[in-house]
Amino acid sequence: MLNKDRRMTLPRSDLQSPFGRAGGISNGLDGGGSFLKQSFVAAISAYPQEFRHGFEWCAGLGEIGLSLLDFGLIQRLTLADINPYAVKASCQLSTDPRVARFVSDNLADVERPAGGFDLVVANPPNYFAVQFPEMNGDLRPNDPGWRVHAGFYDQVSSFLSEDAVLMISEVEPWKTAVEIDGAVYDRRPEAPITSFSRMWDDAGLVLETARPYYREAGADVWLLVLKNACP
Ligand SMILES: C[S@@+](CC[C@H](N)C(=O)[O-])C[C@H]1O[C@@H](n2cnc3c(N)ncnc32)[C@H](O)[C@@H]1O
Repeated sequence: MLNKDRRMTLPRSDLQSPFGRAGGISNGLDGGGSFLKQSFVAAISAYPQEFRHGFEWCAGLGEIGLSLLDFGLIQRLTLADINPYAVKASCQLSTDPRVARFVSDNLADVERPAGGFDLVVANPPNYFAVQFPEMNGDLRPNDPGWRVHAGFYDQVSSFLSEDAVLMISEVEPWKTAVEIDGAVYDRRPEAPITSFSRMWDDAGLVLETARPYYREAGADVWLLVLKNACP
């Protein structure tokens, strides 16, 4: 999630498009998936591997994962989010029986499928210390101390197939300060990529590629692609 005002201004009238399914129900729950999902569809379409069972971590409404299912890029989808309102609202977007949903702190209450997930997608909370006190109660941007990231990477290994690929969206992962519209939005004690690299090492994951894929209000959003270090 980028701009603190953006949640109030997202377009809501494009229900016909597979990229616009949230329609009128996403207010306060959309964390950016409504406009980032098409980039995930493009990235996964171009990736030289076929996927079976996708997991969307920090799914919110699940728009990213549901788009992958719509486009035939996965056969099954598991969604999880800690916010029960988001998970419930996701049911209004799709009643596809190939989707399993869990209210869960990271993976704590998620059922591991036989064979594991071979694709993980996510647009998790991206900010260590949001500089706007009015945002403190919002689960979407806030990950103080990287608690959510650390919890996820601590648990994820046993949920993955050997050939699993993780595509994770992060805002300015090489910067200690994120500026949006010229104002400092987030401060990090070190570049997030450094913090995340330690978590990936411990999880047996390795960064395959990283590229900026979306830019808004002066900030770059990056797609980080991870794989098992020793498949
Ligand atoms: C930036 S929003 C993204 C939501 C959705 N993926 C999207 O792109 O619109 C981050 C999401 O992470 C969820 N979240 C925060 N902490 C979490 C945790 N510990 N476990 C699972 N989900 C969490 C929030 O409820 C929120 O829906």
